[in-house]
Amino acid sequence: MTEKVAWIIGGGSGIGAAVARMLADRGWTVAVSGRRVEKLAEVADGKRIHAFPLDVTDTEAVDAAVAEVIARLGRIDLFVFGAAAWQERKVSDYAIEPFSAVVDANFLGFVRFLDPIIAQMRRQGGGQIAGIASVAGYFGLPRSAAYSSTKAAMIALLQTMRTELAGSGIKVRMIAPGFVKSELTARNDFPMPFLMETEDGARRIVDGLLGSDRFEIAFPRRLVWPMKLLRMMPYPVFFWVMGRLPKPKD
Ligand SMILES: NC(=O)c1ccc[n+]([C@@H]2O[C@H](COP(=O)([O-])OP(=O)(O)OC[C@H]3O[C@@H](n4cnc5c(N)ncnc54)[C@H](OP(=O)(O)O)[C@@H]3O)[C@@H](O)[C@H]2O)c1
Repeated sequence: MTEKVAWIIGGGSGIGAAVARMLADRGWTVAVSGRRVEKLAEVADGKRIHAFPLDVTDTEAVDAAVAEVIARLGRIDLFVFGAAAWQERKVSDYAIEPFSAVVDANFLGFVRFLDPIIAQMRRQGGGQIAGIASVAGYFGLPRSAAYSSTKAAMIALLQTMRTELAGSGIKVRMIAPGFVKSELTARNDFPMPFLMETEDGARRIVDGLLGSDRFEIAFPRRLVWPMKLLRMMPYPVFFWVMGRLPKPKD
C-alpha cells in the first residue's frame, strides 16, 4: 500500500503540531507549514515530518508550496487548514486593517489552497480536505468580531464544498474545537470552560478524520451541545444570554 501523505497548515505549534505528530505516529508522511521556520523545525523530524514554511496570505507562496509538496512527497491525501490569527477586539472596534488581516489569514488563507489542492486530489483519485473552524463560528461572539466571523465563513464554505464535491472522491470535513490549550488560548484573560489539553484535542481530530466520514468533528460535547441549542433559540433569548456572558476585567 502507498504511504499516505497529510499536509497540516499551522503545523508548527499547538493543535496542528500535535495532529502532525499523531499522524506520523500512525504511519503517515506529514508536511507542516506556517511562517516561523524555527517552530516548524521543532516538529519536523527529517523522516516522517517535513517542513514547508509559508505565509497563507501570500498567494504565490501558497501556489509554490503546493507544487513543492507534490514534487517532494508525491501526493496529498489529507489537507488540514489550521492557520489562524486571533486578536481579541475591544467591543465595537471594527477597524478595517486589523479586521482584514484576520480575514486574510483565517479565511482567504484557506481559499488560496482550494483550487490547486482540489486539482491534485482529482488527479490522484480523491482525498480529504478539512478546515479547523471553531465553536466560535456557530454564532457571532462578542469581543471576537473578526475571528468569529472568519470561523462562521469557513463553516459556510465547507458546507458548500461538501455538497459540491460529493461523489468526486474528495471528502470535506469541518472541525469545531471548543477551548484547547495552545499559544492562541494562552493569551486569553476570560474564563474558558472545559479547556482541554492540546494532545486530547488533537486525538479527537485525528480519530474523527481517520475513523469516520462525518462532516463535523466537534468537541467537547458538553460545550458543543449547549452552544448548538443556543444557536437555535429565538433571538430575544439568544441576546439575553449573550448579554450575560462574563465581562472583561478592564
Ligand atoms: N485553541 C483553541 O481553543 C481553538 C479552538 C477552536 C479552534 N481553534 C483553531 O485551531 C487552529 C490551531 O490553533 P491553535 O489553538 O493550535 O493555535 P496556534 O498554536 O497559535 O496555531 C495557529 C497556527 O497558525 C499559524 N499561522 C498563523 N498565521 C499564519 C499565516 N499568515 N501563514 C501561515 N501560518 C499562519 C501559526 O504559525 P506561524 O505563526 O508560525 O505562522 C500557528 O502555527 C486555528 O485555526 C484555531 O482558530 C483553536
